[in-house]
Amino acid sequence: MKLLVTGGAGFIGSAVVRHIVKNTEDIVINVDKLTYAGNLDNLNEVHDSDRHIFERVDICDRSKIDDVFRRHQPDVVMHLAAESHVDRSIDSPASFIETNVVGTYTMLEAARHYWEQLPQVQKNIFRFHHVSTDEVFGDLGPIDPSFTEKTPYAPSSPYSATKAGADHLVRAWGRTYNLPVLLTNCSNNYGPYHFPEKLIPLVILNALSGKYLPIYGDGLQVRDWLYVDDHAEALYAVVTEGNAGQAYNIGGDNEITNIDVVKGICDILDELVPQKPESIQSYSDLITFVSDRPGHDKRYAIDATKIKVDIGWKPVEDFRSGLRKTVIWFLENTEWCDRVTSGAYLTHDREGK
Ligand code: NAD
Ligand code: DAU
Repeated sequence: MKLLVTGGAGFIGSAVVRHIVKNTEDIVINVDKLTYAGNLDNLNEVHDSDRHIFERVDICDRSKIDDVFRRHQPDVVMHLAAESHVDRSIDSPASFIETNVVGTYTMLEAARHYWEQLPQVQKNIFRFHHVSTDEVFGDLGPIDPSFTEKTPYAPSSPYSATKAGADHLVRAWGRTYNLPVLLTNCSNNYGPYHFPEKLIPLVILNALSGKYLPIYGDGLQVRDWLYVDDHAEALYAVVTEGNAGQAYNIGGDNEITNIDVVKGICDILDELVPQKPESIQSYSDLITFVSDRPGHDKRYAIDATKIKVDIGWKPVEDFRSGLRKTVIWFLENTEWCDRVTSGAYLTHDREGK
C-alpha cells in the first residue's frame, strides 16, 4: 500500500511514518511544509529506507498537491498537517485558519479529483483519513461523562474551532461527494520527539536546566494522556480497517490534572538525575503558578469504546510507564533536544531526500 501522510515531520506524523516503515511493507509519501514544528531529525530512524519519500510541500498549494497525487498515486491519505499549539492560536490565529481550514479544504478537493478518476478497484480501497482532536468537543465538568463520537461540537479556542471546521468539511465531502472519509478525534499525546512548547517536554527540559515550570491558573485542569506510539498504531489500524464514513475517538484512559503531571515528571527526575541545579532540593521547587490561558478548557476525557470494539485497538502504555519512558528518551537524546532548543534543526537540509 502507498500512504500519503501529511505533517509527517511533526510530532505525531513522524511517529506514524516510523510506525509504517518499521512495521509494514508499505510506502509512505510524507508531505510537509516544514514549519517551525516540522523537524527532519524526527525521521532519522527511517532515513535509510527507500519506502519513505519526503516532499516539502504546503498543503494549501493546490497545484503542488495535485502534482504529488499525480506522481505518487497513493492508495490512502492520512491528513495530519496542522498548526497544533493552542497558545499560538490565541496569539495569532491566521495561520491556523489557513492551514487547518483552507489546507484541509485543499487536500479534500485534490483527493476528490484524484479519487474520481481512479479505476473502480482502487476507488473502493481509497480512504481520506482526517486526524483530529478531542478539543472539538469543548470541555467537561468534573463528573460529566467522557466524549463519545456523538458528543456535540463546542470548540473553545481558535485552534479547536479550526479543527472543528476541518472535521465538518471532511464530513461534508463524505456526504456530498461520497469521498470515503474517516475521522479520528484523539486526546493529548506525549512521548519521544515532542516539541518543547507543549507541557510535558517543556517541563522536562526546563527542569533539567533549572528554569521555572509554568503552571497555568490553578493547575487543576484535566487532560487524558496517550503515548504517541499507541496513537500511531491506532491511526494505522483505522486507515486500514475502519469503515468509510465513520469517526473513532482515541484515548488512553489516563485522566490526570496538570499539576500531577508536572509533579510526576519532577519525581522521575529526582530519582534519575539526582544532581540538581544548585538551590533546589527537588525539581518540584521550580513549579511556578502563572496567569491562566484565556478560555482554558477545564477537562477532556475520551470514551474509546468504539475503536476498541470495532477495530480491536487498545493502548500498550499506561501513563506511569509512558511518562517514565518519555523522560528517559529526553535524557538519552540530548543531541535532538539541543538542536531543537538552539534552533539548529531549522538548518537541516530542509528539502529532505
Ligand atoms: P505538530 O505541530 O507537531 O506537527 C505538525 C506538522 O504539520 C509539522 O511537521 C508542520 O511542518 C506540518 N505543517 C504545518 N502546516 C503545514 C502546511 N501548511 N503544509 C504542510 N505541512 C504543514 O503537530 P502534532 O502534535 O504532531 O499533531 C498532528 C495532528 O494531530 C494535528 O492535526 C493535530 O491537530 C492532531 N492532534 C494532535 C494531538 C496532540 O496531542 N499533539 C492530539 C490530537 C490530535
Ligand atoms: O487534547 C488534544 C490536544 O492536546 C491537541 O489537539 C493539541 O494539538 C495539543 O497541543 C494538546 O493541547 P493542550 O492545550 O491540551 O496541550 P498543552 O501541552 O499546550 O497543554 C496541556 C495542559 O497544560 C493545558 O491544560 C495547558 C497547560 N499548560 C501548558 C503549557 C505549555 C501549562 O499549565 N503550562 C504550560 O506552560
